Amino acid sequence: MDVSGKSPLKIEKLVKKYGNFTAVNEVSFEMKPGEIFGLLGPNGAGKTSIISCLVTLQEPTSGHCEIFGYDPKVNPEYTKVLTGFVPQELINHGFFSIEEILVFHSGFYQRWHNKERIHYLLKRLGLWEHKDKKVKALSGGMKRRLLIAKALVHEPKLLLLDEPTAGVDIELRASLWDFVQELSQDGMSILLTTHYLEEAESLCDRVGILQNGNLRTVGPTRELIEKLTERKVHVFFDGVCNEEISSPYLRNREDNQAEFVIPHGVGVGDLIADIQCNVHKILDIKIEEGSLEEAFVHVLGEHQ
Ligand SMILES: Nc1ncnc2c1ncn2[C@@H]1O[C@H](COP(=O)(O)OP(=O)(O)OP(=O)(O)O)[C@@H](O)[C@H]1O
Ligand SMILES: [Mg+2]
Repeated sequence: MDVSGKSPLKIEKLVKKYGNFTAVNEVSFEMKPGEIFGLLGPNGAGKTSIISCLVTLQEPTSGHCEIFGYDPKVNPEYTKVLTGFVPQELINHGFFSIEEILVFHSGFYQRWHNKERIHYLLKRLGLWEHKDKKVKALSGGMKRRLLIAKALVHEPKLLLLDEPTAGVDIELRASLWDFVQELSQDGMSILLTTHYLEEAESLCDRVGILQNGNLRTVGPTRELIEKLTERKVHVFFDGVCNEEISSPYLRNREDNQAEFVIPHGVGVGDLIADIQCNVHKILDIKIEEGSLEEAFVHVLGEHQ
C-alpha cells in the first residue's frame, strides 16, 4: 500500500459517548508523516477512548477518523494492516510461549515466514532469553514488551502506544524510548500516551493536551513550552550585594542572590544589562528552563 505523503492520522470532530457521558468531545487533530505525537492528559481525559476508536474497539458516536486516508469504520482491512497497537491493559495469553504468540500473530497478517523479523524484535526488546516461556510465567514488564513486539510483527506504518511504559522499570523505559526513536527514524509515525511528561518532552515532536474529553491545545512541544512557561534565572553574587535591583522580573532577593522569572522573549543578557549590577560581582548564573510539565499544569489550570 503506497501511503507516502499521506497524513498518518486525521481526526475530525471526534465524539465518543458512553451512554449520556461524553468521554471525547469534538476532538480534531492531524499527525504529520514520521512524527512522534504525544497525546497527554490526566486519568480519564479520553486518550484510550480516542485510540479505541482508531482500532475499532469502540465505535465513534460522531465525527471522523482517517489512517493514511482510510476510515477504520469503512476500511478496517487496510487500517489494521497499516497500524500497530499496544493497548494500555495487559492481556493474558496464558498457555502459549512468547515466540508462538508472535508466530500466530504474524499469521493474522498473512506473514507466514516472518521468523527473521520475530527474532529481531525478540532480541531488540530483550525477550530473546524468555522466548520459550509461557505468558503466564512473565512479569508485567515482560508482558508489556511482548505487546510491543506483537504490535510490530507486521511492520506497521503507524504505531499507537497507549501507556507503553506503565509498570516498566527505569532501565527498560529508557531502552523502550530509544527503540521508539529508532522506529521513528526509520520512518514510522508514532502516537503515544504517557504520564511521564519529562520523557514526552524529550521524545515528542508535537503534543496535544486533553482534559475531560476536550483537546485544550496542540502544537510543537518546544513551542508550547516557550509559549506557556517562563524561565527562572538565579543570579549569585560574590559576597553580599547591597545594590538596589529594580526589575519587573525580580521575584526573590537575598543578600547574595536574586531570582528572576523572565518570559521566553527576554534574553538573559538583556536582563543582566537591565538590572545594572556590577558584572564583576556576579559569581554565577543558573537558568531553569520551563518544562512540558509546567506547560501541562498551566493548560489544565486555565480550564478548572
Ligand atoms: N467502556 C466504557 N464505558 C463507560 N465509560 C467509559 C468506558 N471507557 C472509558 N470510560 C470513561 O470515559 C472517560 C475517559 O476514559 P479513557 O479510558 O479514555 O481515559 P484515559 O485518558 O485513557 O485515562 P488514563 O490516563 O487513566 O488511561 C473516563 O471517565 C472513563 O471512566
Ligand atoms: Mg488510558
